[in-house]
Amino acid sequence: MAAPVDRREKVLILGGTAEAAAIARRLVDAGADVVTSLAGRTSNPAPLPGRTRIGGFGGAEGLARYIAENGITKVIDATHPFANRISQNARLACAAAGIPLEQPERPTWKKQPGDNWIEVQSLEEAAAALPAGARAFLALGRQHLAAFEGRSDCHFVVRMVDPPETPLGFADCDLLLGKASADPEEEANLFRLHRVTHLVCRNSGGEAGYGKITAARKMGLPVVMVGRAA
Ligand SMILES: NC(=O)c1ccc[n+]([C@@H]2O[C@H](COP(=O)([O-])OP(=O)(O)OC[C@H]3O[C@@H](n4cnc5c(N)ncnc54)[C@H](OP(=O)(O)O)[C@@H]3O)[C@@H](O)[C@H]2O)c1
Repeated sequence: MAAPVDRREKVLILGGTAEAAAIARRLVDAGADVVTSLAGRTSNPAPLPGRTRIGGFGGAEGLARYIAENGITKVIDATHPFANRISQNARLACAAAGIPLEQPERPTWKKQPGDNWIEVQSLEEAAAALPAGARAFLALGRQHLAAFEGRSDCHFVVRMVDPPETPLGFADCDLLLGKASADPEEEANLFRLHRVTHLVCRNSGGEAGYGKITAARKMGLPVVMVGRAA
């Protein structure tokens, strides 16, 4: 049974992740007044428990204004671990508004026996780490692909939720529409189908995106793993 909640609370969840949806479910089931905020990066987001609002707030000041105008009493920042700007805005806005902020941490993936990780600190380093002739699966959002466009000696396999609005800037690439699967077998089938030799991803942590890591381990594929910023 869900824990009782303070019914005077009005919770703003900064979302866009599976964890945020699970938190919304738990709070709504417990009777809380919940609104989840999405950045609006995908055109058809899955419906969420409680209310939803979509689009940027206009920086930390805009978020502080939203908090005041909507009587928000608590913010839960459950955004993606690489979404640093909105998390920083949440810290500033909640401090300014004098309301509590929860920022649950999503632990990074840890290297397991059998993993062949090339650990790098940036997308540029990741692009440089690929050998000529690699067929690299880029498990990265649209806004993180530019660093790889100069590698015309590699073939890229790119997966996106929505079709790109402008053509991708790769000399040679396969574009797949869809989401990551938590099922390693599904991810492995995709890697085989596209004759993938390297996986490139960021160390996001979490279960939803771990299928590809397990698949790479089972197939002996090198993973170029971009670490989280300090
Ligand atoms: N980064 C990823 O790889 C990734 C992966 C999966 C899901 N997501 C989700 O996608 C969203 C955007 O990620 P990002 O890396 O572009 O974030 P970001 O760089 O931290 O944020 C850029 C700007 O997008 C707006 N924004 C971000 N998250 C928002 C939210 N939940 N509600 C309203 N506005 C939001 C804010 O605009 P204003 O300054 O105008 O308020 C923010 O300044 C996040 O909600 C994140 O959870 C990101």
